[in-house]
Amino acid sequence: MKIAVLKETATGETRVAASPETVKKFTGLGIDVTIETGAGVIASFADSDYETAGATIAENDSAARAGADIVLKVIAPSADELKSYAKGQSVISVVAPHGNKDKLDAAAQAGVDLFAMDLMPRITRAQSMDVLSSQSNLAGYKAVIDASAHYGRALPMMMTAAGTIAPAKVFVMGAGVAGLQAIATARRLGAVVSATDVRFAAKEQVESLGATFVTVDEEAMKSAETEGGYAKEMSDDFKERQAAFVADHIKKQNIVITTALIPGRQAPELVSEEMVRSMPAGAVIVDLAAEQGGNVAVTQKGETVNVDGVSVIGFENVAGRLASDASALYARNVFNFLSTFFDKESSSFPTDWNDEIIKGIALTRSGKIAHPAFAQSDEANVSSGSEDAAAGGDDKPSEDDNG
Ligand code: NAI
Repeated sequence: MKIAVLKETATGETRVAASPETVKKFTGLGIDVTIETGAGVIASFADSDYETAGATIAENDSAARAGADIVLKVIAPSADELKSYAKGQSVISVVAPHGNKDKLDAAAQAGVDLFAMDLMPRITRAQSMDVLSSQSNLAGYKAVIDASAHYGRALPMMMTAAGTIAPAKVFVMGAGVAGLQAIATARRLGAVVSATDVRFAAKEQVESLGATFVTVDEEAMKSAETEGGYAKEMSDDFKERQAAFVADHIKKQNIVITTALIPGRQAPELVSEEMVRSMPAGAVIVDLAAEQGGNVAVTQKGETVNVDGVSVIGFENVAGRLASDASALYARNVFNFLSTFFDKESSSFPTDWNDEIIKGIALTRSGKIAHPAFAQSDEANVSSGSEDAAAGGDDKPSEDDNG
């Protein structure tokens, strides 16, 4: 069994799909690993580190892929790149399939078995393979660090001989994996933190981190969560009341971190331009939903805009701004997945195409689109299936869900 690890080709991608640590673990399983030269440079992993861990270095992408059974990437190859892949090769990466149907078609056409790490079912057994969680956690942390770097004041209360500095007020919208880490980070930095979410389960988690949970309607929240643990789209009435409430709360905040997402849909707009303008001068908003359309009306993807003295930051690939840690965790997620479905005796992968994890993330198999949510090319089916697919491809009630 041979694995190839390629240099990322997507614009702005800083991460790499294997670390020297996971290379060592792969070679320990009797798997040969080839790394495209320079693949880990931005993440601070030198070719020599990989060589020491037991990998071979290839001079370019095609040399790395030659004879490989499995290709590891962070972001799936483009449809064009997939055309040159060998029939029977497996590719393991983040695919975002609802927005990249061309990649699925190209993989099927090339006979490539494409596995989407971002569709990993959210079940206990797959937690160590969950890239959305490992990357969102880092993004939540980095969002607060980015906000504090832009904020012209200190976050904690400071009592000095020259007088007292009031602590910053931080409001986190969306208390999922990223939001909870943002809350914890802002608290560690001494800010006064409040947070909101539409899921009732988030209330206790927010409070356990020492932040205040704020909401317009606790009753409505009780039915706002899917069995897979994700948020549902809220009613128009809830959205109106939420907007009125947010408008009042936000004008007293110094830093706002928005993280609200609904799988398979455009991110909900939670902060209007008027709300941004109502914030104190020098305030900072970090919109972690920027790539999915943004939670803030004025967010510009990849940019920082200034509206009446309020900075609105819309960085893309925020986890990738911590390239080394993000790569190390992504690499471990991939290793945990691959090693679970690798049979050392027969040197084969995956061992069981019927396993719920494989069924949840296998997009193509033997020249066909294999995932039920994407199998039919008629658009109606694809769009109705994309929500479940984004939620792990399986939103059925399961005792394991949300564990
Ligand atoms: P996400 O990235 O899809 O969404 C982020 C947050 O935005 C969520 O908490 C969501 O409820 C919230 N949100 C959506 N619409 C909103 C609105 N209009 N206003 C305010 N907030 C809104 O979700 P994420 O962070 O990936 O995970 C959500 C939950 O999934 C977790 O908190 C956890 O309960 C569960 N989970 C389970 C895992 C497992 O392995 N069992 C692993 C990771 C997460």
